[in-house]
Amino acid sequence: MKILVGYATEYGSTAEIAEFIGHELEHRDFQIDVRNVKDIQSVKGYDAFVLGSAIHAGMWLSEMSQFLDRFQKDLKGVPIAFFITCIRVLEGGGYDHCLREYVNHRVLDLLNVKALTAFAGRLELDAVDWEDRWTLAARYDGKEPPGMYNSDFRDWDKIQTWARKVADTLLPA
Ligand SMILES: Cc1cc2nc3c(=O)[nH]c(=O)nc-3n(C[C@H](O)[C@H](O)[C@H](O)COP(=O)(O)O)c2cc1C
Repeated sequence: MKILVGYATEYGSTAEIAEFIGHELEHRDFQIDVRNVKDIQSVKGYDAFVLGSAIHAGMWLSEMSQFLDRFQKDLKGVPIAFFITCIRVLEGGGYDHCLREYVNHRVLDLLNVKALTAFAGRLELDAVDWEDRWTLAARYDGKEPPGMYNSDFRDWDKIQTWARKVADTLLPA
């Protein structure tokens, strides 16, 4: 079974999660390609997809929107596991909020999404350029100021558990 793990990232943390998930799926004898969605020219030949995007200003990155739009026909019907990375998930009630508000359900409802989750990401403010810092300060919709979340919050055990579950979910019955 051939699986494409496609990611959209600005500061690299989502890419590292995608690589990690890719390695985890390789243990299960899947054939895995891990790619930035902006570099993907074709999705032909894949039996399933794991797709993940960072969240900026309350939505997934435009590269993910463009990818889903460009390959909508090819993706239709093929099993997909989808994840987002953000910081709002760290707040009380954040997980439900992120899955409700940060995900474009109108788009995902057209696809065969078998699994959907939100992971805590990495926010290292020193690495964020000034324009992005403004965007974050102005658009972050959490209760706490985003400056409170200045660290790497990725929980690799959680990500591994999800990847293993996804492997079971994506396997043909
Ligand atoms: C400009 C900017 C805007 C962000 N907006 C949000 C947001 O609206 N909600 C949220 O929960 N996290 C937000 N974040 C946090 C990112 O989702 C988080 O840092 C993520 O791990 C970044 O992934 P990346 O390293 O793959 O780019 C934002 C980060 C930046 C830099």
